[in-house]
Amino acid sequence: MSERAAAPAREQWTGQYGFILAAIGSAVGLGNIWRFPGVAYENGGGAFLIPYLVALLTAGIPVLLLDYSLGHRFRGSAPTVFRRLGKKYEPLGWFQVAISFVIATYYTVIIVWAIRYIGFSIDMSWGEDTTGFFVNDFLRDEGATFSTDIVGGIFWPMLAVWLGVLAVLALGVARGIERANRIFMPLLVILFAAMVVRALFLEGAVDGLNAFFTPNWEALLDANVWIAAYGQIFFSLSIAFGIMLTYSSYLRRRSNVAPTGFVVAFANSSFELLAGIGVFATLGFMAAQQGIAIDDLEGITGVLLSFATFPQIVSMMPGGPIFGILFFTSLALAGLTSLISILQVVSAAFQEKFGLSRVQVSLFIGGLAMVISLVLYSSTSGLAILDTVDKYTNEVGVVLSAIATCLIVTVGARKLPELRAHLNAVSTGNIGRWWSVLIGAVVPIALTVMLVTSLLDLFEEPYSGYPWGFVTAVGWGIVGLMVVASLVYTLVPWRRPVDDFRPEPLPELEEVGR
Ligand code: ALA
Repeated sequence: MSERAAAPAREQWTGQYGFILAAIGSAVGLGNIWRFPGVAYENGGGAFLIPYLVALLTAGIPVLLLDYSLGHRFRGSAPTVFRRLGKKYEPLGWFQVAISFVIATYYTVIIVWAIRYIGFSIDMSWGEDTTGFFVNDFLRDEGATFSTDIVGGIFWPMLAVWLGVLAVLALGVARGIERANRIFMPLLVILFAAMVVRALFLEGAVDGLNAFFTPNWEALLDANVWIAAYGQIFFSLSIAFGIMLTYSSYLRRRSNVAPTGFVVAFANSSFELLAGIGVFATLGFMAAQQGIAIDDLEGITGVLLSFATFPQIVSMMPGGPIFGILFFTSLALAGLTSLISILQVVSAAFQEKFGLSRVQVSLFIGGLAMVISLVLYSSTSGLAILDTVDKYTNEVGVVLSAIATCLIVTVGARKLPELRAHLNAVSTGNIGRWWSVLIGAVVPIALTVMLVTSLLDLFEEPYSGYPWGFVTAVGWGIVGLMVVASLVYTLVPWRRPVDDFRPEPLPELEEVGR
C-alpha cells in the first residue's frame, strides 16, 4: 500500500472535436485501404457489402458504444476498467493490451513498406515484375522460416517510425496524439480524395465499380463471407481490443458520447467504401489494359494488392508516379494515426498499473515493442510470420476478447443496464433496449459461431499452406503468449490506486430497468 503513488489527474482531449478526430484517425487505418478492398473482392464483391453492413449495425456500432461506455464510465485503461468491473476480470484488460502490443509490432512494418513505396513510386523502381520486386528484392523473403537476417532497407525506416510514434505517445493525449491527428487526418482526406477522383477518370473505371457493386448473391450463403465481414468490422473500427475504451476514458465527464460513436462509425465506413471505390476503379483500369474481366485478375488479395498489383497499375497509367505517391502516402498516414492509438492502449495500461510516467513507458515498454518488432519483421522471414500472427490475433484473439467482454458485462458483472443508463445520461438521444439485446445475446452468439467455424478451419488445414510446425509455433504460440501475459500482469500488485473508484451516481438507473 505504502509504495503506491497517488494517481495524477487524468489526461483529457482538448474537446469533443479532438476526440472525434483521434477516434476517426484510429479507425481509419490500414484496415480501410489495405485490407478492405481485398477482403471485399475475395468475398463476393458487391455481395460483401450486405454482410458488411449487417456486421456494422449488429456488432460494430453496438460494441463501439460498449467500448465507449466502459472507458468513459470507469475512466481507465483496459486493465483498470475490467478490474473496476470486478477483480477477477482484470486479465481480460491485459489480454486486450497484449492484442494491441502484438498488432503494433507488425502494423509498423506495413507502414514502413508504404513509406518505402512512396519513394519507389517516383521512378517506378519495381520494374516489370512487381511481385518479384516486392517479395524477393525488397523483402528478401525466405518464406515460412525463422530467420534473423535483417533487411537494412526495412530496419532503418522502421526504427525511425518507432522513435517518432513513441515520441508522440510520450507527449501525451492532447499535445501528442491529438496534435498528430490534427495534422495527419486533413492531409489524409485531401490526398486520398485526390487519388479516388483520379481513379474514377481512368479507362475501365466503370467496369471496376460494376464489379464492386454487383452482388453475387450466392456468396451470402457462405459462412466464411459473414466471418470475413465481422472480422473486417472489428479490425476496422478498432473495437474489442482496448483502443476505443482507452480513448473514451480521456473524454471529459460531460461529453456527448453516443452520437460520437455513430459519427466515428459512419466516417470509418464511408472512408472504407471510398477506398473500395478507388481501388476497384483502378482494378477496372488494369483489367481493361489487359483485355480481361475483373474476376480474372490475379493478386487482388492480402499484401499483394497494395504492394504488387498497385505498383503494376501505377506503371501502366499516365501520371502513374503521382498516383503512386498519393496512394502510398495515404496508406502511411492512415496507418500512423491508427498505430498511435494501438500503442496508447499499452501505454495507458502500464502507466496506470506500474505508476510509470508517459516517458518511462515509451522508453521501456515502447522500446521493448520496438525491439521485438524490428527483430521479427525487418528480417527475411517477416512476411509469413506477419501473415500468421495477423490471422490468429484477429480471428482468435480479438473475437475471444469481444465475446468475453459481452459476457462479463452482461452475465458476470451485470453492468449492461448501468452502462446503457450511463450512455443515456451523458448523451443526447436515447440508446434503447435494442442495444442490450445485441450486446447481451446477438453479438456473443454470432461471434461464438464465427469463432468455432474459424477454429475448425484452422485445425483442419494449416493456414495459408504453411507447414504445421510453423503455424502452430507462430499462430498458437502468439495466442498462448497473450493468455500467459494477461495472467502474469494481473498478478503484479498495482502501484497506483485502482479499487477506491466510484463511478458517478446514475439517477436514471432504476428507470432503464435491471
Ligand atoms: N482500425 C485500424 C485499421 O483499420 C486498426 O487499420
